[in-house]
Amino acid sequence: MKIINVVGARPNFMKIAPLLKEMKEEKLLEPLLLHTGQHYDQSMSENFFRELMIPEPDIYLGVGSDTHAKQVAKIMSKFEDVCLEEKPDAVLVVGDVNSTMACSLVASKMGIKVVHMEAGLRSFDRSMPEEINRIVTDALADLLLTPSEDADRNLLHEGIPEHKIRRVGNITIDTLFHFLPLAEKRTILQKHHLEPKNYVLVTLHRPSNVDDPDRLRSVMEALSNISDWLPVIFPVHPRTLKNMVEFGILDNYSQKKGMILEEALGYLDFQKLMKDSKLVITDSGGIQEETTVLGIPCITLRENTERPVTVELGTNELAGHDMGRLLSLARKAIEGSWKKGTIPPLWDGKTSKRAVSAICEMFIKN
Ligand code: UD1
Repeated sequence: MKIINVVGARPNFMKIAPLLKEMKEEKLLEPLLLHTGQHYDQSMSENFFRELMIPEPDIYLGVGSDTHAKQVAKIMSKFEDVCLEEKPDAVLVVGDVNSTMACSLVASKMGIKVVHMEAGLRSFDRSMPEEINRIVTDALADLLLTPSEDADRNLLHEGIPEHKIRRVGNITIDTLFHFLPLAEKRTILQKHHLEPKNYVLVTLHRPSNVDDPDRLRSVMEALSNISDWLPVIFPVHPRTLKNMVEFGILDNYSQKKGMILEEALGYLDFQKLMKDSKLVITDSGGIQEETTVLGIPCITLRENTERPVTVELGTNELAGHDMGRLLSLARKAIEGSWKKGTIPPLWDGKTSKRAVSAICEMFIKN
């Protein structure tokens, strides 16, 4: 059974790595890897392939950045040609980026089975492009592999038949557990003169935080306040960097004592920084999950999360866009009075095995 595995953007790479490895050991499956090229910078793509030991893609679409409609249209048009040529039995998509939705649409219309890894997550906030991608992908998928019970409930509520849903756990955690020993050897703390449990790690890239000059300024000001208490290290996403330059605020903060602004980091350096941090402040999805598993306090700068289990069971708290709340939560974490949290069920490093069994069963049943 030929299965095309789709990746496009940074958060896809850690999800595909363990799945591809597991598929290669399964005789029933002939996996191919396709990269749409949604992310293309060395720091956003190539470095992850190298560190996560993902083989070179079999197919590269090279679409690059554009408006959402144009980017999705380019992916769809090129991916249709690939499907006509390769005639796959299934297409596997991960996460919620534009590449995920674009390739699901193409496959579904061509009668090719769609498997969605990380199905069922909902923020119930359609101003997030990812929420649209999730809803469309899940409506089309033939097999929906979910990370948690809330995801199953969301899908059932939307009328997805139960037999299409398989709770397999969190795929990102397979990669985290596998690469932690390698990450442990990284010397990124020494490079920045940081001490374990004595710094704050920040990531920000959501349009809601970084596209509006006033919003970005207020977040940077709050981070600057926090850096008076503990050093703040902030690896900056290309989108955020571009905006900081455009809004004329990069220099104010890159010179500030206690603030370390870095280029976007590779996977291993980032995991090392996260594991040894006192607190993480983020608007990413995957980082909410990884901090929960590592037991690191996490403040999410969003009004909602599609990963509520990280708040209910884990170490995550939402601060929304309330900078006063961010500062008081940060103070609490730095003082060491944070909730302990537990690891959600099936976030155990064995998700890829369960996922590949579910995919094989889907083929055997049909
Ligand atoms: C995308 C995903 C988002 C994910 C994020 C992780 C969508 C809708 N969004 O957002 O869900 O959390 O990736 O990074 O799919 N750029 C570069 N080099 C690159 C890639 C991007 O310079 O390799 C710059 C370009 O100016 C581009 C901008 O970043 O216009 C935004 O990139 P894009 O892929 O559109 O969205 P992200 O914000 O990265």
